[in-house]
Amino acid sequence: MEQYIMKGGVPLCGEVNVAGAKNAALGILAGAIMTNEPVIIDNVPRVQDIEFLLDAISEIGAVVERRDGNRVLINGSTIRKTMVDNDSIRKIRGGYYLVGALLGKYHHAEVDLPGGCNIGSRPIDQHIKGFRALGADVKIKNGMIIAHSGRLIGTHIYMDMVSVGATINIMLAASLAEGKTIIENAAKEPHVVDVANMLNTMGANIKGAGTDVIRIQGVPALHKCEYSIIPDQIEAGTFMMAAAATRGDVTVKNVIPKHLESISSKLREVGCEIVEDDDAVRVIGCNHMRATHVKTLPYPGFPTDMQPQMSVVLALAEGTSVVTESIFENRYKYVDELIRMGANIKVEGNVAIIDGVPLMTGARVLATDLRAGAAMVIAGLAAEGYTIVDEISHIERGYECLVEKLSGLGANICRAESERDLQKFKMKVG
Ligand code: EPZ
Repeated sequence: MEQYIMKGGVPLCGEVNVAGAKNAALGILAGAIMTNEPVIIDNVPRVQDIEFLLDAISEIGAVVERRDGNRVLINGSTIRKTMVDNDSIRKIRGGYYLVGALLGKYHHAEVDLPGGCNIGSRPIDQHIKGFRALGADVKIKNGMIIAHSGRLIGTHIYMDMVSVGATINIMLAASLAEGKTIIENAAKEPHVVDVANMLNTMGANIKGAGTDVIRIQGVPALHKCEYSIIPDQIEAGTFMMAAAATRGDVTVKNVIPKHLESISSKLREVGCEIVEDDDAVRVIGCNHMRATHVKTLPYPGFPTDMQPQMSVVLALAEGTSVVTESIFENRYKYVDELIRMGANIKVEGNVAIIDGVPLMTGARVLATDLRAGAAMVIAGLAAEGYTIVDEISHIERGYECLVEKLSGLGANICRAESERDLQKFKMKVG
């Protein structure tokens, strides 16, 4: 019954360091098995989704060594099977990157269909389309993706929609294909670029990542490398929203401010002051936030993974805001939880209409998925009184040391494992 309990109303102040990007790490760690030489990855976030992927990689026989802190060594030379059907892989979305990695290296992959956040239907047709275009025979059988090929052959692939996962998966497989692959309408997210940079450090030849056309000249083999993962755009954005919602003053460090532009500009629109440094962003909250409109879009648009956290800020901003979710079909499950805290939000299809309230009040709420859970924590920190967040395993899939980091900013928050912990916390904060 792990829960977070917090007493809100304290403006967050100080500095916080952001970990490596979870969604880049998933692609990068899968890519690391594509050589028979050792690969060392730095800045690997210590979060549950990554632990699950590393467990799955080690269960197929690769060497996985967690070295001090956030450094991981992977050696794929000892891989003994291309079937990944363990419990770990079923719990995460990013497990599908092992299809691209294993298919590229061994021309065969059998991987359990992905789990991950329940935010609507999440088909993988574009991944399959890409693998088939490269010459693989792909089928879904008994809950698994089964892909088999002779040598993959480079080709021209037009993605029907912008998909982060499909772009990364095709890049992985095509890195070891014969000849050139062109991905059109590719995703441009920072983590797509990071995976491409890491594969290039391993000897791949990928050009254009970060634009909507990616060109991959296949190479016969990849080799060892050392690589450090970029900072997590969404973790950084989450602290920025927490600063705004609590009317605090927080410097978020170890970030790439360019990746945060859409988030910074929405916070400016609501009235916060944003000060950018080379690798830090300071958010100075304001007492009278104003409503604004937000539409989620592929990068460089406003990220869908920041939509719930932004909605908490807007729930406290004066006036009526309109939020449009254009990536996932069911990403408003958290709204009922916010309403329990006094927010005034109506959802119509993919649009949320938010009438700002001056204050929310603490309640017992659910983390309905990873980012929704982060939004509940932000709401609880801003609200009056105690908030208890249940189902925090969702949050711990993607945030490293969240409670410790927020405590470092002055938040009254604790991770409780029993009723006794809850009572102890209440006695302590009064
Ligand atoms: C990645 O999911 C992230 N997950 C998500 O983060 C993130 O929300 C999403 O990209 C968008 O940025 C990981 O990296 C593990 P998509 P992914 O393929 O790759 C449709 C988080 O909170 N689509 O870019 O699954 C799809 O249904 C998580 O960290 C197809 O129709 O997202 C969606 O509407 C949640 N067919 C849109 O495209 C496909 O084959 C974008 O999905 C693939 C996708």
